[in-house]
Amino acid sequence: MCNYYLFDIYTLSMDRNLALEFVRVTEAAAIASSQWIGRGDKMAADGAAVKQMRNRFNQIEFNGKIIIGEGKKDKAPELFNGEKVGKGSGPEMDIAVDPLECTDSVAHGRYNALAVVVAGTAGSLLRAPDTYVQKIVVGKAASGIIDLDASVSDNVINTAKAIGKDVKELTVMVLDRERHMKLIGEIRAVGARVRLITDGDVAGAIATCFPESGIDMLMGTGGSTEGVLAAVPVKTLGGQLFCRFTPRSKEEEKEAFEMGIQDLKKIYCAEDLAKGKNLTFTATGVIDGPLLPGIIVKNDYIISHSMVLRTKSGTIRYINTHHRHNKQELEEYLA
Ligand code: FBP
Repeated sequence: MCNYYLFDIYTLSMDRNLALEFVRVTEAAAIASSQWIGRGDKMAADGAAVKQMRNRFNQIEFNGKIIIGEGKKDKAPELFNGEKVGKGSGPEMDIAVDPLECTDSVAHGRYNALAVVVAGTAGSLLRAPDTYVQKIVVGKAASGIIDLDASVSDNVINTAKAIGKDVKELTVMVLDRERHMKLIGEIRAVGARVRLITDGDVAGAIATCFPESGIDMLMGTGGSTEGVLAAVPVKTLGGQLFCRFTPRSKEEEKEAFEMGIQDLKKIYCAEDLAKGKNLTFTATGVIDGPLLPGIIVKNDYIISHSMVLRTKSGTIRYINTHHRHNKQELEEYLA
């Protein structure tokens, strides 16, 4: 009994401390990639984020395993699936990362980019193949009424009713892609607004859980790994997320099958993607988006904006950090 108690205290405080340690990881990745904003080189931006993320993880006392390392989709540098991170002692944890969510936004100096880390006890995160999923996400007020198999108009009308909004005032965020033309038409036909984004459905999904964001729903097909990353905050904030794997080729289908996604009709909820309550979500803004402001560089300091969520307590912490720097030190640090 006593041992269990001590174990609980140990895991609880480790989890708390680690959640805050991971802010240093996302801050470092965000600062490094922000140096590439608008320079047209998405590989360099991603590479800078990956390098700093790996470097920072390896300074932390924990035993992490990368379950989802983002990047393969774009043949980008990545933290590899199965890679061990951390100093190798301390708690064993599953880690899902997107060192730079929205590489194109950074390369082209657009809107909405984040560095993201999700962590959970070993075995809690789904090993998702790097492919697409069809997604639907809403915040707490509309939780329990959406259905991935229902028509677009039913989902939109029911969500508006649950939130207490006129359909005309409901805003659905959708990735601006050719494949979404039919979806966009259907949303508009019911009378709702469509907010198109060039990239970044992790932030888009989470924004549905913050009524002040003005985003009520997210619909469409996007990255599968982004689905797992968004599942933790959406679940923590009482929202609802459903997705279904939609591989783009026979090769992706085979990969999905080998990773355990054997029924392509199956609808996954947030709990299927990230199990239990020992979960944390940490993100730092690279460029302003619906969730966080981006990195601000001053002459002798850099300001970063981060959020940390813990599923167990439901706490959301916003951390604004002023990092002292001089130009030469920053260049050496990033070299
Ligand atoms: P990256 O992190 O790979 O830059 O992904 C950005 C993103 O917009 C995601 O938010 C989204 O899930 C995915 O790409 C959509 O994929 P695609 O650009 O192939 O439509």
